Amino acid sequence: MDRPSRWAIMLSAFGGSFLSNTCVIGLQWGDEGKGKIVDALAAQHELVVRYCGGANAGHSVTVGPERFALHLIPSGILFEQVLCVIGTGVALDLETLLQEIEGLQARGVKVEENLKISDRAHLVMPYHKLEDELAEQAASGSNKLGTTKRGIGPCYTDRAARRWGIRLGEVYSPESFRDKLAHTVEHKNRIFKALYGAEALDVDEIFASMQQMAQRLEPHVVDATALLNDAAEQGRSILFEGAQGSLLDLDHGTYPYVTSSNCSVAGVSAGTGVPFRSIDRIIGILKAYCTRVGAGPFPSELHDSTSEFLRERGHEYGTTTGRPRRCGWFDAVAARHTCRINGVDSVAIMLLDVLSGLEEINIVTAYRYQGKNLCSFPAQAEVLDQVEPICETVPGWTEQIDQCRCFSDLPANAQAYIHRLEALLHTQVEIVSVGPDRDATIYI
Ligand code: IMP
Ligand code: MG
Repeated sequence: MDRPSRWAIMLSAFGGSFLSNTCVIGLQWGDEGKGKIVDALAAQHELVVRYCGGANAGHSVTVGPERFALHLIPSGILFEQVLCVIGTGVALDLETLLQEIEGLQARGVKVEENLKISDRAHLVMPYHKLEDELAEQAASGSNKLGTTKRGIGPCYTDRAARRWGIRLGEVYSPESFRDKLAHTVEHKNRIFKALYGAEALDVDEIFASMQQMAQRLEPHVVDATALLNDAAEQGRSILFEGAQGSLLDLDHGTYPYVTSSNCSVAGVSAGTGVPFRSIDRIIGILKAYCTRVGAGPFPSELHDSTSEFLRERGHEYGTTTGRPRRCGWFDAVAARHTCRINGVDSVAIMLLDVLSGLEEINIVTAYRYQGKNLCSFPAQAEVLDQVEPICETVPGWTEQIDQCRCFSDLPANAQAYIHRLEALLHTQVEIVSVGPDRDATIYI
């Protein structure tokens, strides 16, 4: 395996330090291919940490003939020597987590003392998933968000409201947990009945199942904030694994068509307790085109045969929900916005191979709204929905590129496409992915 030598070359561009704390952040609407880059970088880090989102995420990693879909467990789990941590900021669904652990163990992946879970993480309770489902069902028109129905919004809502939020550590004090749960379920039942005519949930049932699941997970539960800060102080390298993408960030994305956490780099410190000054580098992940799953504005979206082409070539179906993803051209306006808010050091361009065979490729380079060019990424979803995307057309290439391993192996037009993106983003492209396999990667 020649990966370390490639990494040595690549890391020398960063001052040669292997021991750095790195963030891998999605710069579009999720599904950029973060899982593959985290998997590649995990081998060079001692810890891999999730800091935001929950089981709404779906990270695909291909190892030889095997494909893994991870939702809650950091992608670093596929390396035995890596310590994986689920941080404070994650919306933790114990049921999904246990299924994921069992699924990995059944395939021979070690998930024992190499997985730690923050006792501060908020729990996604059964009533959160029910509420997500009921609220989406009841919504219509622009009220429908197209969530993954994993209970993410309701869980974070209760966290922010404080009265009803339950953290993992609380389940280990059965008496007070039982009291809080009883109040909460009574409250939820009243609301669900009034709003949706739903049947009442049973407190005892929820209590028993939460207790049972929490017991099984107890060996993994730690003060992750202390663990991570100890690790950082000892100079151990930490990889922060983003979920979703920055355009779904609660504050900086296309609100209200976003998720309920800060999935940009802004969430790293809040979601782990590790101070910003401990972060050494930030790698942004972009697909060579754009996709979005769920509702919300998407200026570069296509509704023609190219959209079909991208969906089929790129297998653009949700890892978590199986929904077909909406597809469109690379949007340099949106990507420039997310490069800036994340302060990325460099970017990785994923799935470049999907574009092979297109005669021409468009890049959205500006938005026009009411006859004027916009000079920044608009805040209002209604505006973003109505902007006219201004495209630049560049020539495509016909060659298959999945066997290319050096930048110079790429067809001239593919090289030019990457250089054009760099110029538009004001950011260096450091990695180009040309296929799902670990080695189908070009380090520039
Ligand atoms: P929620 O996070 O389930 O509340 O969904 C809110 C929006 O974010 C919906 O449009 C989802 O489709 C989208 N979303 C959430 N997680 C992911 C992800 O991991 N990849 C892509 N889209 C996501
Ligand atoms: Mg995904």
